[in-house]
Amino acid sequence: METWDAIRARRNVRQYTDEPVTRADLERILEAGRRAPSSTNWQPWHFVVVTDRQQLGELATVWRGAGHVAASAATIALVAADPEDDKRAHLLQYDLGQVTAYIMLAAADLAIASGHAAVDDQNEAKRVLGLPEGHLCPYLIALGHPADRPLRPIDRPDRRPFEDVVHWDRW
Ligand SMILES: Cc1cc2nc3c(=O)[nH]c(=O)nc-3n(C[C@H](O)[C@H](O)[C@H](O)COP(=O)(O)O)c2cc1C
Repeated sequence: METWDAIRARRNVRQYTDEPVTRADLERILEAGRRAPSSTNWQPWHFVVVTDRQQLGELATVWRGAGHVAASAATIALVAADPEDDKRAHLLQYDLGQVTAYIMLAAADLAIASGHAAVDDQNEAKRVLGLPEGHLCPYLIALGHPADRPLRPIDRPDRRPFEDVVHWDRW
């Protein structure tokens, strides 16, 4: 897929077929995340890739909006060390957002669907993922082949109008 098509085709998908995501595709998607930019190139992230069905089911309970993780072919847990201060905490959120976008667009490029999930129950996420002390898992990214319809560029996305969002030169 062209980059422009991947950007327009990506959407949150929360239902997946039973088809696995191949190791080669997973590695491409993870490599895209690894290449994401970050503040001062600190690269605060680790990616824990979960494909075990029981673990996926347990991860799906960490937030009421994480149910789709259970049926995903694979879920990438974004993990980082506890930030030292507020400034680092803000930068971490920004950088994890960039990682997420890279991962999701690389997946869309391969016709693989993705869905964000926040994490509320950190203790359960840490237990399932076996995280070392002093680490947290702010987000999960579920991956799989879409059960509803293939990813195709969306002509009319559910977004605020361009004119409302974009300001040229001054507000
Ligand atoms: C920071 C963030 C957290 C999100 N958390 C969840 C979540 O916990 N569960 C979920 O189903 N979707 C989650 N989403 C997906 C958004 O609801 C979705 O991106 C938004 O509605 C736009 O839809 P689209 O991604 O299909 O374009 C999250 C998205 C972001 C950016």
